Amino acid sequence: MKIVVIQGPNLNMLGIREQQVYGPMKLEQIHAQMKEFAGQNGMEIEFFQSNLEGELVDKIQECYGEVNGIILNAAAYTHTSIAIRDAIAAVAIPTIEVHISNIHRREEFRKENMIAPVCTSSIVGFGPFGYHLAMTGMLQIMGEVKAAQEAQAAAQAAK
Ligand code: DQA
Repeated sequence: MKIVVIQGPNLNMLGIREQQVYGPMKLEQIHAQMKEFAGQNGMEIEFFQSNLEGELVDKIQECYGEVNGIILNAAAYTHTSIAIRDAIAAVAIPTIEVHISNIHRREEFRKENMIAPVCTSSIVGFGPFGYHLAMTGMLQIMGEVKAAQEAQAAAQAAK
């Protein structure tokens, strides 16, 4: 199973930016923990961060036919990007959206979410631990996908 973690603008500034909101952990530390968890659970994992909307769209498109799941924090583009939303819908890969902060408890403009409706699920407000929850969730989703495929194959064979 391969998953790709896609991080949007300013997440490369974690550990520096607004620590009262996002905490002290750096993105590299979060990714190191995710890599360890992936290794323990037989998952192949790749990380990508960009501050550019088009690069995020390109990366999502590259996932088509190549990966089983996407963990995405589109950061500020969450609230504005129809292009990222359309890319997720286009590739139709199970996608878990993560937000470190609880976007529902913050400014009004953060309540607008273009991404959530095309994601399998959203995890918000758990701090960096949300990424760990997303990986656990991804294992669950992959188990369900596999069970459904096996059931379909068994039904086909019984015909
Ligand atoms: C964020 C929330 C967004 O509103 C914000 O623009 C970010 C980070 C989060 O992880 O809490 O950059 O996605």
